[in-house]
Amino acid sequence: MSNGRRPLIAGNWKMHKTVAEAEAFVAALLPRVATADAVDVAICPSFLSLGAMVDSARGSRVEVYAQNVHYEDAGAFTGEVSPQMLSELDVHGAIVGHSERRELFGETDRALQLKVPKLLDAGLKPLLCVGETEAEREAGDTERKLRHQIGEDLERVPEELLGEVVIAYEPIWAIGTGLVATPEQAQEACAFVRALVGSRSEEAAQRVRILYGGSVKPDNAAELLALPDVDGALVGGASLEAESFAAIVAAAG
Ligand code: 13P
Repeated sequence: MSNGRRPLIAGNWKMHKTVAEAEAFVAALLPRVATADAVDVAICPSFLSLGAMVDSARGSRVEVYAQNVHYEDAGAFTGEVSPQMLSELDVHGAIVGHSERRELFGETDRALQLKVPKLLDAGLKPLLCVGETEAEREAGDTERKLRHQIGEDLERVPEELLGEVVIAYEPIWAIGTGLVATPEQAQEACAFVRALVGSRSEEAAQRVRILYGGSVKPDNAAELLALPDVDGALVGGASLEAESFAAIVAAAG
């Protein structure tokens, strides 16, 4: 790409797919994305499918991310998974701060402040999600919300590593609703996120990849992915079928 940022298309499967279903998906996906040389592709299965997905995708262009992680290496944290445990499986990175985790499972900016640098320390790529609710957008609070989340969640990431973080702008009102941000809304918000990173480091702002997420489908992907500050997509529903996910990958290339 002329701006030097490789597009990333990531599929967030949320709580979908057993290991057997995940295996069938990856077998169908790999031949469909084999020639998408200019695009990075990632799938984000449940913890239980991570090992199988890493093995099945090894040697291909498809990377495997977890959907969450704890910020400690080990300890009395029932039900949690550490960065070391992900690294041992050769997982490439982890989504953190998804709005469903923030809203339904109490994920806090304070925890994200620890999770993002911890992932980088462990050699894993953080994919940090931010975005406003419908009420916040209607109240004109979108920028305030993004400034707060980016400021808090990346506070402990040193400037020289900021460019390694992937940020997904996911307006909560567009997630799973079929309502997609207009190209103007997506571009404006992603450009604002880039400017926020730029207030820490201009070099990082040019390198950081900012994805759009929220009802991305094969028929709206090309328009969104062509926006100057949108470097890819975080896809929910349309990532569950190999055919529609591969069509979105093709739209990025
Ligand atoms: P949908 O693509 O289903 O709207 O989900 C978006 C999302 O939350 C990806 O993380």
